[in-house]
Amino acid sequence: MCGIVGYIGKRRAYDVLIQGLHRLEYRGYDSSGVAMITEPGELNIYKSKGKVSALEHFASNKDISGTIGIAHTRWATHGEPNDINAHPHCSQSGRIALVHNGTIENYTVLKEALSQQGFNFVSQTDTEVVVQLIEYIMDNNHCTLFEAVAEATKRVVGAYAIAVIDRQNPRQIVAARQSSPLVIGIGEGEYFLASDATPIIEYTNKVVYLNDGEIAVIEPDKELKVYDSNAIGKNKIEITELQMSIEQLEKGGYPHFMLKEIFEQPRTLADCISGRITADGKRVVLSGVIENRSKFLNTNRIIIVACGTSWHAALIGKHLIEEYCRIPVVVEYASEFRYSNPVVNQGDILIALSQSGETADTLAALELAKQRGAFVFGICNVIGSSIPRATHSGCYIHVGPEIGVASTKAFTGQVTVLAMMALLIGQMKGTVTDQTVEKIATDIRRIPTLIQDILSQSEKIEDLAKIFTYAHNFLYLGRGYNYPSALEGALKLKEISYIHAEGYPAAEMKHGTIALIDNDMPSVVIAIKDNVYDKTVNNIQQVKARGGKVVAIVTEGDTVVRNMADYVIEVPEISECLTPLLTAIPLQLLAYYIAVNKGRDVDQPRNLAKSVTVE
Ligand code: F6R
Repeated sequence: MCGIVGYIGKRRAYDVLIQGLHRLEYRGYDSSGVAMITEPGELNIYKSKGKVSALEHFASNKDISGTIGIAHTRWATHGEPNDINAHPHCSQSGRIALVHNGTIENYTVLKEALSQQGFNFVSQTDTEVVVQLIEYIMDNNHCTLFEAVAEATKRVVGAYAIAVIDRQNPRQIVAARQSSPLVIGIGEGEYFLASDATPIIEYTNKVVYLNDGEIAVIEPDKELKVYDSNAIGKNKIEITELQMSIEQLEKGGYPHFMLKEIFEQPRTLADCISGRITADGKRVVLSGVIENRSKFLNTNRIIIVACGTSWHAALIGKHLIEEYCRIPVVVEYASEFRYSNPVVNQGDILIALSQSGETADTLAALELAKQRGAFVFGICNVIGSSIPRATHSGCYIHVGPEIGVASTKAFTGQVTVLAMMALLIGQMKGTVTDQTVEKIATDIRRIPTLIQDILSQSEKIEDLAKIFTYAHNFLYLGRGYNYPSALEGALKLKEISYIHAEGYPAAEMKHGTIALIDNDMPSVVIAIKDNVYDKTVNNIQQVKARGGKVVAIVTEGDTVVRNMADYVIEVPEISECLTPLLTAIPLQLLAYYIAVNKGRDVDQPRNLAKSVTVE
């Protein structure tokens, strides 16, 4: 949610900033802006509603010189997307410019107080109070920018990652973080700053992740200085080496990141599995679980908190853990959990499941569980992100950067890790036989090849999408392990095509939803050969009897559903608990092609952002 970039060094800052904004556009894309100091006293700020390309167009005939600058791509929280509310925001005198990711909760109180001191506000944002406050403190305390930022961070309540520049000093950026991510890249006599490492990787692989409460003073040709929130102690800097490549951030010949990420799944899942199943296929190795063996053996309950697609993966995780470990699992929306005064007992394990590792609700939920004595375990994709840094232990899904706003490869990575985790804990507890572990572990290894087979049907799914592009509503039905798949299929369609879709447990349909079914309401039914196959077949009959069109996802060789449904897509046979990994693929492709046919902006659907770092 909102992306920040900063640069200070010898290059033209504008180029680094614009390229960085493009990389961070997935975090928000309703408006963007840059601020550069061209010489002491000269601060140029350009802002534009719309995507970064609109900003580039706007700035094309302007002065874009300067070797220091900050930039921002926005996902609006306070104030509609327009040129004025876009960042960077500027202090009243025009001296200080600031970009911000997060939300300032006490901004109305601060605004009121500053207004009484004669400050005028031009935007509707919460951010503007921070830059005005910094100027107010500088003027009143006659202090440096760094001291003013440190003081301001004590007075603001909320989440922020900020980068601030002073037009009188083109040799310094001050940055601070509280609950919103900020990474500093260390180059040769230059520094980069960003909400995540993607804008930095093409210049340097050495980064420092700021911790909550830290303030950084960034000056070219000088050592990076990081202070604690009291601006007293200089903190020890931990330099991390990034394991990321530029190719992972490019479309690689695909028209959209989403399609690339769908087609990447055979490889990303191979990476996710790599080294985690022993060569003899008999055991799973996940060090985060093994190191905390006694916690997993003794727990009476696991709570999984997540949002959106990750929440759907969590529902599959519940099935897996309950089936193979016999541990009760509760799956909660992180946003509900954090405000529900949840019962958390000593010995409970809370799993925070998140692709980005930055989702504000998930982060807050895990902090709450931690305070109440739970052992907190993270399953994330983005290495070094906030959730893995806040948890006691965890494991990564290792599927590489996911840039398309609609999650695809992260979902299958999450389910794969949860499946391996369930086998490992079950084996440690003795609640699953070695034969079962071996059978499922062998099937996990087959997944990349089987997904490749399903992807070879993409043209067929593309054709199918043409038939359904103009439907206004869809029903997605599934049961057991594939009920969450139905929810996920519906979410994929909704978020990128803007067609209304509902995911439903197939058998629940007759308790109300069946009234919706008619010739204009297609149902996508996941009817693979599982323990409720016959019942799902009955549900398909019920839809057909009411004139509904059925697209069925079936197990290879199925003839019963084939004779009943209007269209079928086959997936290979596999252990039942792994079927969501296969059924996800046609559901992703169907949503993708329908959205493309409708001319939607697939990678950056309206109103969305990839990393939801605000409530
Ligand atoms: C949907 C989607 C979102 C995310 C949700 C949680 O395609 O991507 O629903 O799953 O915002 O994000 P993470 O997993 O980063 O916590």
